Amino acid sequence: MDIASRPSEPIANPETADAAVPPQAPATVRRADYRPPAWRVPETHLDFALGLDATTVVTTLKVERAGDEPLRLNGDGLAARRVAVDGVAANAWHMDGDDLVIDLPGDAHEVTVETALNPAANTKLMGLYASNGMLCTQCEAEGFRRIAFFPDRPDVLSVYTVRMSGPKAQFPILLSNGNNTASGEGEDGSHWAEWHDPWPKPSYLFALVAGDLVANSSTFTTMSGREVALNIWVRDGDQARTSHAMDALKASMKWDEETFGREYDLDLFNIVAVSDFNMGAMENKGLNVFNTRYILADPETATDMDYDGIEGVVAHEYFHNWSGNRITCRDWFQLSLKEGFTVLRDQLFSQDMGSPAVKRIEDVRILRSAQFPEDSGPLAHPIRPDSYQEISNFYTSTVYNKGAEVIRMMRTMAGEAAFRKGTDLYFDRHDGEAATCEDFVKAIEDGTGLDLAHFRKWYEQAGTPRVTARLEHDGTTATLVLTQTVPPTPGQPDKAPMPIPLRVALFDRATKAHPGEELVVLDGAEGRFAFDGFATRPVLSINRGFSAPVAIEAEQSVDDLVFLAASDDDPFARYEALQMLVVRHLVAAVENGSADAAEGAAIRAAFAAILADETLDDLMRGELLILPGEAYLAEQLMVADPGAIRTAREALKADLGAALSDAFEALHARASAVPYSLEAAARGARKVKTQALVYLAAGRPAVAAKLAKAQYDAADNMTDRQGALMTLAGLGGPEREAALEDFHARFAGNALVIDKWFSLQAGSLHPDVLSHVEALARHPDFTMSNPNRVRALYMAMAVNPGAFHDASGRGYAMIADLILALDPINPQTAARFVAPLGRWRRIEPGRAAMMRAALERIAAAPGLSRDTYEQVTKSLGSD
Ligand code: TRP
Ligand code: ZN
Repeated sequence: MDIASRPSEPIANPETADAAVPPQAPATVRRADYRPPAWRVPETHLDFALGLDATTVVTTLKVERAGDEPLRLNGDGLAARRVAVDGVAANAWHMDGDDLVIDLPGDAHEVTVETALNPAANTKLMGLYASNGMLCTQCEAEGFRRIAFFPDRPDVLSVYTVRMSGPKAQFPILLSNGNNTASGEGEDGSHWAEWHDPWPKPSYLFALVAGDLVANSSTFTTMSGREVALNIWVRDGDQARTSHAMDALKASMKWDEETFGREYDLDLFNIVAVSDFNMGAMENKGLNVFNTRYILADPETATDMDYDGIEGVVAHEYFHNWSGNRITCRDWFQLSLKEGFTVLRDQLFSQDMGSPAVKRIEDVRILRSAQFPEDSGPLAHPIRPDSYQEISNFYTSTVYNKGAEVIRMMRTMAGEAAFRKGTDLYFDRHDGEAATCEDFVKAIEDGTGLDLAHFRKWYEQAGTPRVTARLEHDGTTATLVLTQTVPPTPGQPDKAPMPIPLRVALFDRATKAHPGEELVVLDGAEGRFAFDGFATRPVLSINRGFSAPVAIEAEQSVDDLVFLAASDDDPFARYEALQMLVVRHLVAAVENGSADAAEGAAIRAAFAAILADETLDDLMRGELLILPGEAYLAEQLMVADPGAIRTAREALKADLGAALSDAFEALHARASAVPYSLEAAARGARKVKTQALVYLAAGRPAVAAKLAKAQYDAADNMTDRQGALMTLAGLGGPEREAALEDFHARFAGNALVIDKWFSLQAGSLHPDVLSHVEALARHPDFTMSNPNRVRALYMAMAVNPGAFHDASGRGYAMIADLILALDPINPQTAARFVAPLGRWRRIEPGRAAMMRAALERIAAAPGLSRDTYEQVTKSLGSD
């Protein structure tokens, strides 16, 4: 049992538990209730006596009065073993729930509290926990209170000094934030280290790591000539797989200097990779902690996508040093202040490191498949939420990805140079502070000269705006007629229009040229924008580069879309035209039960042109060949039938695969001849190679099976091997079992690759996928205690509509069972599985009833965590 779990939490006892008793509703925290802290904590001293199952922490805080209330130190499942004020044992304190409250007479005191922990029993992976024999921490958002009593809120900034001691053989490496100021040997094989971080920080940025680790070490010289020691700490044997992460770190440091003028501010930067981690990584000051998945890579075990993920996440955490650490959040409602901005920064970095067009398309695809559904479902919230029960539930695609889009719009309206002035002003004005989203917008406003008064609505309103667009043509004038509506979301029935910046071009159909791109900003519910000099009706290209995170309904003919798909000079717009063509076709096919033949022919011709277009590089070609995802297609329908969507989409794939089989086979052959390297051309070749298999598997399964088998056998890298195995696993047949067995045996013991083995089967097109998932849950390699493994199996299933939305309802029941089993172990990870079930209102009635029933079964369980309780009750809703 987790020692840090709340003593007051009801414990499920099968004998006495009454399923009819509703769980206790957790308190709601509101943005409007923000009050500044009553006490400041200028200095924090932590002394850890480390042990895997018994760690004691002595916390000494210098506190200064800033208000009238007593000192409130948050705790979560902690018991105070000892409390002293100014060095004297104190008894003027009491517990208020989990918090320790001390009545202090004066304006400045020193408070000492001792707590005891059992890290090995901490399965929530928040606070101090054990992973593979090492100790590590995760404190964001409210994990520090599981380690020590403290005002655990981001606007209390403190200078930390940390001392830790422990058995040297077990924990040869002792790390914390900042600089190692002293270390030494103790008695009986123990040793100790002292760390000091000169930068005041909130408690969520505290970190400690102790374990048997080895480093890949290097250095970086900053723009002012300071040398920074860089270490990436991993388990022995993994050093060889850290070079990509190290390259990404150095590139990030350089890029942030050049692009945002941000220099690193300590002499040491440590990264530690841990295999048990709830999220991707954490930006603790000077000591980033990473999920191994975002550090370890070599060609045999990591795909090209894994390489990109590592580059992006290493950059993201590094960039937080300024957008997050030097300037942090006043309260957790401001989370997008650091996350939205840092996502934008990592997106721009990745654009600069590779292909900007391809990166932009990938980011839009993520937004549409993850954020748009969130925005149209029961968990919709603004990028700056107004209330929460459990803050961990608000680390969402809305706060992160839509948050990034909102800042990107400001950048688009201001232009790059002015935007830089805005961010310079922001960093300058708020350095060392806990700031708000409003502070950010104000700095951008002051620095750029933009008027953002009305634009602030983007922070307040949830929901994806819908924009209709129509061109009127009269004489030589083309007039763009736009309307917008922001749909109602829970708690926000009525919405105001928001400023929507749209990059627009009007093409002459004959010359395939346009007189120059324009930026129009639709500020009200309707707008008319006139353009002169068009003797003939032009073709409208709108929301180029995806300049605004909105859904566009434009009056564009099939001919217009075919024209843009072939000829638009904006790569995103070209992709978008093709997507639009396919979306319309598939939505009509789902709604009418049959596809339009002429449209089908136009799509075939467009795909043939893309396969033949020699001006395209393969990375972009591969992007254009990806059909709109099932979740995005479902989003286009008020009420979706996931079975019909899958059938229509697979039918189109089969049609294209059969009609263009010669071209796909030729593409596969050409790409197979390109030797492995990390260069763009070789990566592009691998991308289209697997795309070719995907289409052939649908249209020419026997050919695909042969090619996939050959690709698997010849593979000298994970991209090819995984692509081939995915195809074989979807097709079935004798090759399936053999290849899966070979893959498992080949990579036994490599957790990250075994995760792929689970995911690939759970995400498969194979008709028996649910039975496979059931069997995999009993596989000896499956465990509920490792979030990566749980996600590899069950998240892959939950986002595979053919499995999750199986007409029997089995998929829903399996996810409900998982949530109930995982909730007592790791509530943060369990709660992430609720959203797929929460989509029930937008699914056809038969399935919707079963999804609801699954949610009700979870809601009825006694002792649910705050995390799962909030997501389930909101998903059931009453409106
Ligand atoms: N701040 C982290 C990031 O975006 C997110 C994070 C890591 C996190 N671990 C967490 C959030 C645990 C909540 C709980 O880089
Ligand atoms: Zn982040």
